[in-house]
Amino acid sequence: MMKTIVTIGGSNSKSSINKLLAEYSGSLIKNVELVKVDLNDFEMPLFSIDIENEQGFSEGLKKLNAIIDTADGFIISLAEHNGVYSTAFKNAFDWLSRINGKVWREKPMLLLSTSPGVRGGQTVLDIALGRFPFMGANIIGSMPFPSFFDNFKENDITNSELKERLFDLAINFEKAL
Ligand SMILES: Cc1cc2nc3c(=O)[nH]c(=O)nc-3n(C[C@H](O)[C@H](O)[C@H](O)COP(=O)(O)O)c2cc1C
Repeated sequence: MMKTIVTIGGSNSKSSINKLLAEYSGSLIKNVELVKVDLNDFEMPLFSIDIENEQGFSEGLKKLNAIIDTADGFIISLAEHNGVYSTAFKNAFDWLSRINGKVWREKPMLLLSTSPGVRGGQTVLDIALGRFPFMGANIIGSMPFPSFFDNFKENDITNSELKERLFDLAINFEKAL
């Protein structure tokens, strides 16, 4: 049966470069179904234990959780806001963890980050690399993608070294599905 890969950009920006990078990376893998998550499509309040106790889980959250259940693997690219996850991503992550602490269900994950800066979100990527395994992540490969606007144009990677590294990671990820 055809595998399902869920791509997630860790941002709620309509023009998220992380969403672009995650979806581009997904497109490198052939004969899979890509489910492209835009965090804006899954409504949930700012996490509050009181809201959880009083109202339970939002429909948007349940929908996102169901998509995670159906995934065979994840390609996630994290936005870096002040060195950590964007609020939108952290919020979704916190809510998801209330439904199932193994948020990533032990499924293969390709974990990326990008930013306009030279470190390409390395700081948030390191945080996730340290933390996601405790939340059920099976991280097959990871890579910060630096200086996004210099290295990615017209939906393609213009820097051949970065392109080769990402292609290699995609091949390894595909094998792990
Ligand atoms: C509040 C805020 C904090 C940011 N902090 C960082 C940072 O710590 N490191 C970084 O490389 N870029 C930082 N940036 C720039 C983001 O990398 C840039 O906005 C990028 O487009 C975010 O990814 P996205 O397009 O997927 O949302 C910050 C942007 C905002 C709005």
